[in-house]
Amino acid sequence: MSTSLFQVCMIFAFCANLLTPSSCHDNSRLHKKHAALFVFGDSQFDVGNNNYLNTSTELQANFWPYGETFFKHPTGRFSDGRLIPDFIAEYAKLPLIPPYLRRGFKSYTYGVNFASAGAGALAESYQGFVIDLKTQLGYFKKVEKQLRHKLGHAETYTLLSEAVYLIGIGANDYFYALGTNSSLFESSPEEFVGLVIGNLTTVIKEIYKKGGRKFGFTSMAPLGCVPSMRAMKPGNTGTCVEEVNAVAKLHNRVLDKVLLKLKGHLPGFKYSYPNVYPHIDEIFNNASKHGFKEGKTACCGSGPYRGIGSCGGKRGVTVYELCDNVTEYVFFDSNHPTERFYQKVSKLWWSHTPKQTETYIDLKELFEVY
Ligand SMILES: *[C@@H]1O[C@H](CO)[C@@H](O)[C@H](O)[C@H]1NC(C)=O
Ligand SMILES: *[C@@H]1O[C@H](CO)[C@@H](O)[C@H](O)[C@H]1NC(C)=O
Ligand SMILES: *[C@@H]1O[C@H](CO)[C@@H](O)[C@H](O)[C@H]1NC(C)=O
Ligand SMILES: *[C@@H]1O[C@H](CO)[C@@H](O)[C@H](O)[C@H]1NC(C)=O
Ligand SMILES: *[C@@H]1O[C@H](CO)[C@@H](O)[C@H](O)[C@H]1NC(C)=O
Repeated sequence: MSTSLFQVCMIFAFCANLLTPSSCHDNSRLHKKHAALFVFGDSQFDVGNNNYLNTSTELQANFWPYGETFFKHPTGRFSDGRLIPDFIAEYAKLPLIPPYLRRGFKSYTYGVNFASAGAGALAESYQGFVIDLKTQLGYFKKVEKQLRHKLGHAETYTLLSEAVYLIGIGANDYFYALGTNSSLFESSPEEFVGLVIGNLTTVIKEIYKKGGRKFGFTSMAPLGCVPSMRAMKPGNTGTCVEEVNAVAKLHNRVLDKVLLKLKGHLPGFKYSYPNVYPHIDEIFNNASKHGFKEGKTACCGSGPYRGIGSCGGKRGVTVYELCDNVTEYVFFDSNHPTERFYQKVSKLWWSHTPKQTETYIDLKELFEVY
C-alpha cells in the first residue's frame, strides 16, 4: 500500500511545522515547549486507525469522496477534511497527530491518536469491528512503556503529565444499544448511561495513574438529529428522534457531575468540558443562522436527508449523491459533520469567549498550564 508515501508526508508535516529544520530531530527539547496530545474516541476523532483493521466498510472511510477537500485523498477520516484533533493540534502548534496503528511510526513525543470509528466505552459495542476504549487504553500503556524505555521514568512522567488527553466516546454505545435493544432507552436510560460513564471513568483514572492530568471531553451532540436518525422517523417528517436526544442530554449531565467529583478526588486533575449541546442543537436546526445553507440533509449519501450511509458506494448500496459545495453543509455523510462544522466547534473549544462559567477551562489554557 501507500504506507511509505504516508510516512514521507508525515515526516514532511512534522518538520514543516517546526520552522527550523535543524530542530527536527531534537524531540526531547521540543516537547518541553509543546504539550503532547493523546486522543481516544470514536469516528469524530479517528484519523485512520480503522484503515488497519479487518472491519466492515461501514466503519471505514478510506475511499473517495472522504477527504475530498483538505487532504484531496481519503485518509480514513469520516469527513470531507480535518477533524477536531487536527484543528486542536494546529492551534497548539503541533504537527498532525498520527493514528497509532500506522506502521513504522514510533516517535510519540508529540502524542498519538488511538481513536477508532464505531468504538464505544463498552466492549460490547460493535465488538470485533472496532478498537474499544479499554483496548485504546491498552495501546496507551504500550506507548508509555516504549517512552520509558527511550526517555526514562522521570522524563516520561513529565511528558505524560504535561500532555493533553482528548476523549470523545459514548455515541456508539447509544447507537449500538438502540440498534440491538431499544427498550434500554425506555426502561433504564440512567442505568445504561451509568455503565458508559462508569467505563469512561475507569479509563480516566488509569491515564491519571500514568501521570495524565489535563483532559478534554466532548459533550454528546443531539444524536437524534443526524441525517440517519431524521430519516428513520415515519412519515418522512425529518424531525429529530427526541428519545435519542434525551439520552445524549442525560449523558452530558451525568458526565458533568462525575467530572466534578473526580476533580475533588484526584489532585491536579484539570479538564475542559464545554457543554455545547444547546449550541450544536441550534446549528443543526437553524443552520442558516450559522453560515450554513443545509443542516438537515447530508452532503453525501442517498435516500431521505441522504440518511442512508452509502457515501462512497462501498457499503452495499453503490449509488449515492454528492453535493457540489460541501462548505454549505453541516453534515458530510449520514452520521458525520463536515470539516467546516468541526472547525467551528474546535475554535469554540480552544478558546471560548466569553467563558461559560468562572471555573470553565478552555483547551488553550490546558496546553499552556504546566
Ligand atoms: C477478515 O474478516 C473476514 C470476515 O470476518 C474473514 O473472513 C477474513 O478471514 C478476515 N481476514 C483476515 C486477514 O483476518
Ligand atoms: C433490553 O433491555 C431491557 C432493559 O434493560 C431488559 O430488561 C431486556 O431484558 C433487554 N432485552 C434483551 C433482549 O436484551
Ligand atoms: C463497564 O461496562 C461493563 C459492560 O461492558 C459493565 O459490566 C461494567 O459494570 C462497567 N463498569 C463500570 C465501572 O461501570
Ligand atoms: C431559529 O432561528 C429563528 C430566528 O431567529 C428562531 O425564531 C427559532 O426559534 C430558531 N429555531 C431553533 C430551533 O433554534
Ligand atoms: C460554496 O459556498 C460558500 C458558502 O455559501 C460560498 O462562499 C462559496 O462561494 C461557494 N463556492 C462555490 C464554488 O460555489
